[in-house]
Amino acid sequence: MYVTLTRFAVTLTVTLGFLTGCPTPTPPPDPPRAIACEEEEDCADLGPGHMCMGGGCMVMIIDAPAVEVPASSDSALDPQPLDDLDPDPAVFEANLVALVDTVELVPGTATEAFVYKQDGAAPARIPGPLIDVEAGTRVLIHFTNLLDEPTTIHWHGLVLPNEMDGAPDDVAGIAAGASFDFDFVAAEPSLYWFHPHIRGDVQIERGLYGAFRVREASPPAVDSERIFVLDDVLLDDARQVEPRAEGPAMTPDGQFMTFEGMMGRQGNRLLLNGKSNPFVDVVAGTVERWRIVNVANSRFFRLAIPGHSFVIIGTDVGFASAPDERDELLLAPGERYDVLVRMDGDPSSEVALVTKHHNRGHDMADPGDLVVATLRYDAAPAPVPTPLPVVTRDIERLVASAEPDQIVRMDEDLLRGARVGFSLNDELWPDVTPLSAALGDEETWDIVNETHMDHPFHLHGFPFQVVERAPLEGGDTVAEPMLAWKDTVIVGPRQRLRFVVRYDGFPGMWMLHCHILEHAERGMMTMIDVAD
Ligand code: C2O
Ligand code: CU
Repeated sequence: MYVTLTRFAVTLTVTLGFLTGCPTPTPPPDPPRAIACEEEEDCADLGPGHMCMGGGCMVMIIDAPAVEVPASSDSALDPQPLDDLDPDPAVFEANLVALVDTVELVPGTATEAFVYKQDGAAPARIPGPLIDVEAGTRVLIHFTNLLDEPTTIHWHGLVLPNEMDGAPDDVAGIAAGASFDFDFVAAEPSLYWFHPHIRGDVQIERGLYGAFRVREASPPAVDSERIFVLDDVLLDDARQVEPRAEGPAMTPDGQFMTFEGMMGRQGNRLLLNGKSNPFVDVVAGTVERWRIVNVANSRFFRLAIPGHSFVIIGTDVGFASAPDERDELLLAPGERYDVLVRMDGDPSSEVALVTKHHNRGHDMADPGDLVVATLRYDAAPAPVPTPLPVVTRDIERLVASAEPDQIVRMDEDLLRGARVGFSLNDELWPDVTPLSAALGDEETWDIVNETHMDHPFHLHGFPFQVVERAPLEGGDTVAEPMLAWKDTVIVGPRQRLRFVVRYDGFPGMWMLHCHILEHAERGMMTMIDVAD
């Protein structure tokens, strides 16, 4: 029926154009549509694998791009700190630009990227410069946008005045050629990061991101502290970043979701501080502190090191109440962990830091363990092994109310006009109705994930405490094992996640969204108006 109508329309247009003798503009092609459904049975006749998602019968998946892991050549680079121009120790003042430049992601080839730099002359690197300050420092960043498109800088996780948050709630962003002075206090020690909030799926993929460390006055005693910024990038044969997949996320017959359209972009190169499989030089018997952030568009990293474990001492926002030792560390885009690693390997050995498969929905195929970096043990062990510091923190436990004050429903929306979207409360950004709350209040939120995949949920402006998770279909509610502050959290497929937040920071319109950038850009963003 649908096909017939379309053909009829085309015929009619052509005929009229012929009759009047003037060229008729061709109407835009209809976007592919999924066949509408209400329940699973409606899709039964369409063939194997069809499921009813977001109101349409769809088949997943076209496979994720295969990852190429080169042999290790050089050592991992620490992110280069941004220079502080202000001699006053209480003030950190710096210049920062964003521009197009080339970086060497694959040895011997230049890849065009978007980069943050101290100034136009500084060497281009991904990640951008590290902002490294002690807690309580006033941060002044004089930023100039030298790209030929608008951008913003969002300081992911930092509690700061709303107008410094770099979110596109009512701004068109910082125009090409324009400047903006950011001015805020970096209050709470943790590892944060910064990135644009306009066309994030393109601008972050192309390299606009940097780490932001707010140091404790007295950090735990370790042998070394490293910052690992994890990313992946999708390069074509000429080693250039693949353009964003435009148009609907479906194949032209309207039945198959493309991988990027559905799950978000995964790259074919893994990057640790901008390098594929670098060496990390370590010494047996020492203890290292790793501050890890995942800045990828959609890839989850599930880190493991054979024969080693991770002692989690902190999450997105500062230390946790007590350490938690794990063999694996799962980080969704946007999340951070602060871990201690006992260097238990043999002198002169090499051990891989790998990311294991994490099925984040729709039966993603398992590519096996992928090497992120190679730990290279020195021939000489530490003369005396370093004891593992015990890091604890007094955290007041926020108590959830019996009924949530806010409910955010995550869903797919495959049939709304020309847009294939991911929705929050049935709305697609930017056509949204903001939630509302009052500064100083404490509220319980339920994030209800109606879809069949993980979504990392991120709230700006106010860290929260995760309380529990429960399957939508019934089953046991699981209390969150760690007492800690988060700003980004994985909400599993068909899961309800509950957290408590205290609106303790600054009033204003704050964003909340999925941190899979393709989902956010396809609608999974909204706002909350926190009134003074
Ligand atoms: Cu990391 Cu709204 O962003
Ligand atoms: Cu998502």
